[in-house]
Amino acid sequence: MTKTRVEDLDWNNLGFEYHDLPYSWTEEFKDGQWQGGHLTTESTLTLNEAAEVLHYGQEVFEGLKAYRTKDGQVNLFRPDQNAKRMVNSAKRMMMEPYPEEKFLEAVKAVVKANQEFVPPYGSGGTLYLRPFMVGTQPVVGVVPSNTYTFRVYATPVGAYVKGLNPVPFTVSKYDRAAYAGTGQAKTAGNYAGSLLPEMEAKKAGFADCLFLDPREHKYVDEFSGANFFGVTKDGQFVTPKSESILPSVTKRSLLQVAAELGLNPVEKQLEVDHLDDLAEAGAMGTAAVISPVGSLTYKGKKQVFYSETETGPVTTKLYNYLTGVQNGDVEDKFGWVVPV
Ligand code: PLP
Ligand code: COI
Repeated sequence: MTKTRVEDLDWNNLGFEYHDLPYSWTEEFKDGQWQGGHLTTESTLTLNEAAEVLHYGQEVFEGLKAYRTKDGQVNLFRPDQNAKRMVNSAKRMMMEPYPEEKFLEAVKAVVKANQEFVPPYGSGGTLYLRPFMVGTQPVVGVVPSNTYTFRVYATPVGAYVKGLNPVPFTVSKYDRAAYAGTGQAKTAGNYAGSLLPEMEAKKAGFADCLFLDPREHKYVDEFSGANFFGVTKDGQFVTPKSESILPSVTKRSLLQVAAELGLNPVEKQLEVDHLDDLAEAGAMGTAAVISPVGSLTYKGKKQVFYSETETGPVTTKLYNYLTGVQNGDVEDKFGWVVPV
């Protein structure tokens, strides 16, 4: 694959796609210790045919972004939270956790090394960072790997869902993760399992599907790549409390923003049959940012939230606050922004 050159990129029309940038970060774990991380120009991995990850899916990953501010500086948003979550995901998948301080060093080094690829302020683009780790030991029996590769690649991206436009969703008949399964871990298998439900939703004319709790199919869980939120008719920010969803950094941040905006936020079980109490609904995540749910179809019945074409006022307020902090335009009261 040829390396992407800056001059090949159209900043205002970036997709959510992979570009092969000059530098990644890599580190091996073997003989019971991390061997030292460093930048690399290598963007391929060489694996043994029996490597753990290829057969038993021992993999964890993260997603975070670097943002260009008006004065040209580059910021990360709460990278410490991604570092922590990756440790938790690794523990669930019986992998060697990558130390949090090394994670931060790696992410910063990759941003600095590729800094000309951080899209300009105002373009709507960001530099997406994808730290991940795979079990590399050749194994046949199902046992944890004793060797790992940690890698961080970067790619400039536009919006996952373009603009702040409401899109239609449907409730999936499939589960994303099992009850007491791996739903809280950011691990490859959860995403492989969501491909068929997503494809079926798209074929039926929806942007994506929403998963219910796997035990009772009664409560809202989340999307395949984002958490769910709603705004009740009396102005409360609500988001599902569930053991089978990914603990989203954006969700945790918006809970604080919502409190700041007087929205009395709460995490609680949300019955899919009682969403008519919601005036607005949305998806939230690093890639998704905030993406309004225009409608939700469940058992053949379509519920429209604020509007199928326009974004509700509270969703807009939350979006402006969050992206404002990330882009350096709104005061960072919470100490979330980390300059690179
Ligand atoms: N839920 C799932 C399944 C995800 O893949 C993501 C994306 O990382 C999120 C939620 C949102 O998490 P965050 O806000 O930390 O990006
Ligand atoms: C992210 O938001 O960073 C994710 O990892 C979600 C993924 C589906 C793109």
